[in-house]
Amino acid sequence: MEAAVDADVDGIVAECGGACACATCHAYIAEPWFARLPPLSDMEDAMLDSATGRRANSRLTCQIELTDELTGIEVHVADNGG
Ligand code: FES
Repeated sequence: MEAAVDADVDGIVAECGGACACATCHAYIAEPWFARLPPLSDMEDAMLDSATGRRANSRLTCQIELTDELTGIEVHVADNGG
C-alpha cells in the first residue's frame, strides 16, 4: 500500500493509513505472487468481507510486506471508491 501511495497509484485510497481498518487498499494479486503471500489474518479476512468485489485472490495491500520473493508483483486495484 505504501509503495502504491508513494507512486500515486489510482484507486489505492488507504483511508486508515495501513491499520487494516478500511479496506480501501483492496487489490487482486496475480499468480505466482498470490501464493507466496503469508496467510490472511482474521482481521484482514473480516475487512475483506466488507470490501466491494472480493475475489479468491483479494488482499489488503497494507498487509503485504514487500520482500525479495515478491519482486515484480502484479497487483490489480479493486474498486475502492477513490
Ligand atoms: S489502508 Fe486501510 S485497510 Fe489497508
